[in-house]
Amino acid sequence: MGAMDQPEPIEKAGVDELRALQRERLRSTLKHAYENVPHYRKAFDAAGVHPGDLKELADLAKFPFTTKADLRANYPFGMFAVPMDRIVRVHASSGTTGKPTVVGYTKEDIDTWSAVMARSIRAAGGRSSDIVHVAYGYGLFTGGLGAHYGAEALGATVVPVSGGMTERQVQLMCDFKPGILMCTPSYALVIADEFARQGLDPAQCSARVGIFGAEPWSESMRDEIERRLGLAALNHYGLSEVIGPGVASEHVDTRDGLTIWEDHFYPEIIDPQSGKGLPDGRDGELVLTSLTKIGMPVIRFRTRDLTRLLAGTARSMRRMERVTGRSDDMLIIRGVNVFPSQIEEILLKQRLAPHYVLEIRRDGHLDELDVVVERRPETPSPIAQDVERLIKGTIGISTTVRVVEPGTVQRSQGKAVRVIDKRPKV
Ligand code: DLL
Repeated sequence: MGAMDQPEPIEKAGVDELRALQRERLRSTLKHAYENVPHYRKAFDAAGVHPGDLKELADLAKFPFTTKADLRANYPFGMFAVPMDRIVRVHASSGTTGKPTVVGYTKEDIDTWSAVMARSIRAAGGRSSDIVHVAYGYGLFTGGLGAHYGAEALGATVVPVSGGMTERQVQLMCDFKPGILMCTPSYALVIADEFARQGLDPAQCSARVGIFGAEPWSESMRDEIERRLGLAALNHYGLSEVIGPGVASEHVDTRDGLTIWEDHFYPEIIDPQSGKGLPDGRDGELVLTSLTKIGMPVIRFRTRDLTRLLAGTARSMRRMERVTGRSDDMLIIRGVNVFPSQIEEILLKQRLAPHYVLEIRRDGHLDELDVVVERRPETPSPIAQDVERLIKGTIGISTTVRVVEPGTVQRSQGKAVRVIDKRPKV
């Protein structure tokens, strides 16, 4: 076993040591954010709080939340806390106005990120002797590169396949025999289908462990993936605003929810309506504060993800339960974040009517998005395939656009129902 195969000392620390470390790191993060990011200075001043007010971890509740809208308002680099010469990487994820939210990393942040990803793979049973097949998308999305750097930091052998070209993925898995597969859970099922199509038994040639995340999935999906791919399917959670993947990960021995890497990310659960803190064990919205990030610290970031915190098992660090849903309207279609308003923008620019509905269904294992939109009575309607191409080009997802007659889409008395989610409930 190589040195990288051993857990880090903090992973074996007791709760008291962990809390002391969090308190110290939280104080310096609040100070760093206040002194170097105008947004945080303004927000803290407006709330009448100062970094020095944090004496106990519980004092964090006095500080204001940060939302995706704050990041967007400071597009592209306004939330960065260091000069650009220290930023070595940016990533981005989609936002409501078509403008993505941008995140930036210093060299130290990339090392931190790699370390938490290496830790996640190790907790999943991965070792430096393993081959890691990374089928998360590479690019602005944090999945591919996050997994890649983590696997390298572990000393494993990375196969940077990225997503797509499933036939080749299966061939490579059969030839290379990776120990670990990393991709979205829905894509894992697509890979399983391809094994079946080629008449191959995945258990003979594929990974023993899969590390799956970036979208919601259920226990029954876990069962199906495990049965069909002959591996242990573990859950993995993260979000670009906080770092990317590597925030919380499931341990292969316990398989009982995701251990949050609490020495780097401080979790809270709040009531999404009132914003009030809730005790561990209660369902609510996850709020995360980075404890070690330098390029772009985030203070009390509202993830909109609904879950609850549970006591630690494999580690003294707390666990989070599988994310059950989101408190806002962001859709995740095949792992891509989509807001209804992004599609609306495109439809309206194409001179279609503002009466539309997004129907999401699960076709086999993949999410399908049908855009049902009325033509305007006064103008000839555009060709549906052209609109599909535009959506694909702008947002990056494939859709089926159906242009229907005026008056066909149901009107509402209050808030319009834009999304009909026909996927099986998680
Ligand atoms: O999805 C980072 C990631 C990559 C996580 C690879 C795991 C694996 P974003 O594109 O910013 O980042 O999307 C973040 O995806 O707020 C959740 O709503 C959702 N999400 C991520 N992981 C899970 C999961 C990446 N395990 C958003 N279960 C988050 C449910 C998840 N939802």
